[in-house]
Amino acid sequence: MSELGFDGVVSRRTVLLGGAAFGVAAFADAALPPKAEAVAMEFDPVNANQEDTITLPDGYTWHVVASWGDPLWSSGNAFDSTSRGTAESQAMAFGDNNDGMSCFAVGNRTLLAVNNEYTNPMIVWGNRASQRYENEDDIRKGMNAHGVSMMEIRRGAQGWQVVKDSPLNRRITPDTPMDITGPGRGHDLLKTREDPQAVLALGTFNNCGNGRTPWGTYLTCEENFHSYFHSPSNPDWTPTDALKRYGVKASNDRYGWATIAERFDPALEPNEPNRCGYIVEIDPANPIARPRKHTAMGRFKHENCEMVVARDGHIVAYMGDDERGEHLYKFVSSKVYRRGMDNPSTLLEDGTLYAARFDENGTGVWLELTPETTGMDTAEICIHTRQAATAVGATTMDRPEWVTANPKAIEAYCCLTNNKNRGKSGQPVNAVNPRPNNQYGQIVRWIPAQGNHSNQEFKWDLFVMAGNPTVYQDAYSGSSNITPENMFNSPDGLAFDSQGRLWIQTDGNYSNAGDFAGMGNNQMLLADARTRSIRRFLVGPRECEVTGITWSPDRTTMFVGIQHPGERNPDTCHFPDGGMSIPRSSVIAVEKPGWFGLGRAAIG
Ligand code: FEO
Ligand code: CA
Ligand code: CA
Repeated sequence: MSELGFDGVVSRRTVLLGGAAFGVAAFADAALPPKAEAVAMEFDPVNANQEDTITLPDGYTWHVVASWGDPLWSSGNAFDSTSRGTAESQAMAFGDNNDGMSCFAVGNRTLLAVNNEYTNPMIVWGNRASQRYENEDDIRKGMNAHGVSMMEIRRGAQGWQVVKDSPLNRRITPDTPMDITGPGRGHDLLKTREDPQAVLALGTFNNCGNGRTPWGTYLTCEENFHSYFHSPSNPDWTPTDALKRYGVKASNDRYGWATIAERFDPALEPNEPNRCGYIVEIDPANPIARPRKHTAMGRFKHENCEMVVARDGHIVAYMGDDERGEHLYKFVSSKVYRRGMDNPSTLLEDGTLYAARFDENGTGVWLELTPETTGMDTAEICIHTRQAATAVGATTMDRPEWVTANPKAIEAYCCLTNNKNRGKSGQPVNAVNPRPNNQYGQIVRWIPAQGNHSNQEFKWDLFVMAGNPTVYQDAYSGSSNITPENMFNSPDGLAFDSQGRLWIQTDGNYSNAGDFAGMGNNQMLLADARTRSIRRFLVGPRECEVTGITWSPDRTTMFVGIQHPGERNPDTCHFPDGGMSIPRSSVIAVEKPGWFGLGRAAIG
């Protein structure tokens, strides 16, 4: 399906009547039989805007919990907006560009685990002229701003604030030792000079979305790891085809890490990139425990990890690979989970990976990745997971971002954020990715057969196709649940609360012009899974992405991540401190008097 209208836009007839468009016409508007109960949407939606602050419905308040550079220990310096801190101060402080996060009750303490995904050169270093690192401290500071921040928070007179010096506080960085588990442990493809046994990796970085296990541990997901590797020792170094599939090349010099640590130079350490791109498990209750890199859960550009206990007791983890034309995966543990079992983490060391095939008629199959189906051995499948998915014919997707499972119904949803390459070579238009040059994105949902998430068969539909009905009258106007009042682009973060309400966060084009006119800044919306109605709940500050959502254990507070405010024009954004301050990524708390019953249901 490649016919384009005269204006370069796919014609309505093609989208509505073409065979590949079944998902749009027949499913997006008819929808699967609703299983979820109706949910309360008890607020007046907010208008799109380009303000430099948080906009919420009447009656709701927000405050900052932590911003980039805030010290987690009293021996650390308060954030200095002139110097923007040093490598030393950053090691003691909340990292940059917060993304996925989970809140845990640890005894009577409340712990917030937050991913710190990456850094923006103009902001982390303030090097406006060069727009790159200028010395070794810059590089080390950037490194220390990555990873995960684990911090106790407590509600006081100023609202939720970090408890400095809490025994639970911890910074996990690209240098933190972590155990390699699963089929990749000890494998030749993971051996390096520093770790010839392939058992102990250093660090985690580009931690995007997250997850949590039924046994109360945190999962952090390694996404765009390729951009930390470059080769100062040999600029002519060329990657193998296997590394090319993951985007590794000699010239990715954004962070400078290879200039201070040889392991980031693939000409010197060609297997180091094979030790990145995994799910890492962290125990929030034990701040000296080593994190665990679970190779059995596959290596790709992990977005988040939505873990459920399937009806048959197996652990099922849904995981997106966020790159144009890559795939949607799930992991199913070999053994079943029992509450209170010893060492439940070992369930994530042994299982089967599957990649999704979405068929044109609204059914789909999870294709098993095994030596028989891929011609690769088990460890290779875990390390070259993308190649294994290609071998079995998985559907190329429009950038799978977060997956979430409905606690009120056996179904799951995934944001397909956008894909300018859809309709081009290798990524043909299909029912689940129905629009060429997809600038708006869509959310797909599926119901596993027999109400069992470990089943290989499912039915699917498109819950929403984002679009702009004020600019387009065709498929780019969006599905019937998109209106001029709730339109948005590039759905990314996605989470159900315990009441079965679906929260949608966006990381899209905030120009408010052209195709995106009227959409304003990035935002968060609330959807009713049963009626498919969608209302805008929050608008973020200028040039931010809204990403990361979790709830306090008492279910009275929603924590929301505001990432990279002012990323392109930092002089025009002063969030959250106001005045002429520099913009800082922050976690905010959103509250309303009498607001209860939020939060994630206990899993299982
Ligand atoms: Fe880190 Fe795909 O977002
Ligand atoms: Ca994301
Ligand atoms: Ca995104």
